[in-house]
Amino acid sequence: MQLTLINFAYLVASVLFILGLKGLTHPRTAVRGNLLGALAMLLAVVVTLLDQRVVTFEYILAGIVIGALIGSAFAARIPMTSMPELVAVFNGFGGIASVLVAGAALFEATDLGASSVRFTISTAASGIIGAVTFFGSLIAFLKLAEFVKKSWSGGAIKMLNVLLSLGCLGASAWLVIEPGSYEAYWLAVALAALLGIFLVVPIGGADMPVVIAFLNSCSGLAAAATGFVLGNNILIIAGSLVGASGLILTQIMCKAMNRSLGNVFFGGVGDAATDVGSDEEVYAGKVKSTSADEVAMLFDTARRVVIVPGYGMAVAQAQHAVRDLANELETRGIDVEYAIHPVAGRMPGHMNVLLAEAEVPYEKLVEMDVINPSFQQTDVVLVIGANDVVNPLARQADSGPIAGMPILDVDKARTVVVVKRSLSPGFAGIPNPLFAADNSLMFFGSAKEAVLDLVAAVKES
Ligand code: TAP
Repeated sequence: MQLTLINFAYLVASVLFILGLKGLTHPRTAVRGNLLGALAMLLAVVVTLLDQRVVTFEYILAGIVIGALIGSAFAARIPMTSMPELVAVFNGFGGIASVLVAGAALFEATDLGASSVRFTISTAASGIIGAVTFFGSLIAFLKLAEFVKKSWSGGAIKMLNVLLSLGCLGASAWLVIEPGSYEAYWLAVALAALLGIFLVVPIGGADMPVVIAFLNSCSGLAAAATGFVLGNNILIIAGSLVGASGLILTQIMCKAMNRSLGNVFFGGVGDAATDVGSDEEVYAGKVKSTSADEVAMLFDTARRVVIVPGYGMAVAQAQHAVRDLANELETRGIDVEYAIHPVAGRMPGHMNVLLAEAEVPYEKLVEMDVINPSFQQTDVVLVIGANDVVNPLARQADSGPIAGMPILDVDKARTVVVVKRSLSPGFAGIPNPLFAADNSLMFFGSAKEAVLDLVAAVKES
């Protein structure tokens, strides 16, 4: 296929990628956006395969078949709530692919004896960013899947990271000065692998969403660098789009956690030792439990109800029951809205996706900053399987994993009903004084059954 034709097809694919991303910015156009993105990818892959530089198709086909089998087996088995682990691993594979492709390109180029400065710099960038992404993602996966529970932090790790970064720069300079040197390339990759590990090891607690978004962005940047190595325009453009959108998402997540990126990576706040009191101190003698009939009576006199969904609603797949409850309340003239915290659940937009699946109108989902001032005028807040995102301890500077994280101010409402199975902590692992507050009632049970009981009780009342 002619080079002009190939580049024209790449240009069309790039425009489709951009239109796809634009579509993804709103739930109404998201499905179309996704389809446009998939179409762009198909076009890019087909055109690349038609490129005359492809020497043999056997390995490519074998790779597609093996990769598709492994990928679909993983995706089919993983529960929706473990999606961040899967995303972390997939980001990582993107990174290691860049490392291997850049390494192979270096091998080919030095065989031919032609290596420009642009080529060596982009090869080093591809290897370093790719290795940081892969090994960082591996640690993120192990942490999210709770194989690694502890976070090590401190001055020594920070110093080590500085030295490793300098080492990566030094090895890159070596590669630029001596373009044929595999040793320089693999040294840079090895140092970057350690950097990836030691950058993510200190991070824990509620900061993991930021890390995943950041590593996602890195996988895109590694791909873009590989695009420069291969002189492939679509890889440069698609990689840059992933890198840029990942960075924007990282920025949004940082804002949601009230952290800067530097603070997430170097602040060591994630798992800081805390003195927030034991469960016994926080809860003993103060927790009041309630029943479906009692909550239905509360709804009887309520004019405004706010539902706060969290991780527990996702695990229990209670979104359809929640929508039925909201419909039931609305037919009784009650104003019902949903308060959406940016990191509720286990992935960005987790609650939006689940509630959209249950056909809850998008206008009913209200973001944290908008809904917070209205809690004082809310009669009943129904917290369903949420914990950290409504924990008032976040307002205290020394509350460890969630210190400074903006929360939904549900404690300001007249009555708060919390649906969960026990007093167990959430992701951050700390107690929640909301459960012991004077205006709180605990409705113990698994979210789906509990909400179905509420629907029945409301219908009977
Ligand atoms: P969490 O604080 O994790 O609390 C979830 C609560 O759900 C638990 O306390 C648990 O209590 C309850 N639960 C579990 N299964 C349940 C069931 N079947 N029925 C009813 N309740 C159930 O959730 P959150 O408030 O949504 O906060 C999210 C946390 O995850 C934040 O700390 C956030 O930083 C972190 N995180 C978020 C993301 C993204 S991007 N969203 C990614 C990684 C981590 P019981 O066991 O007592 O039922």
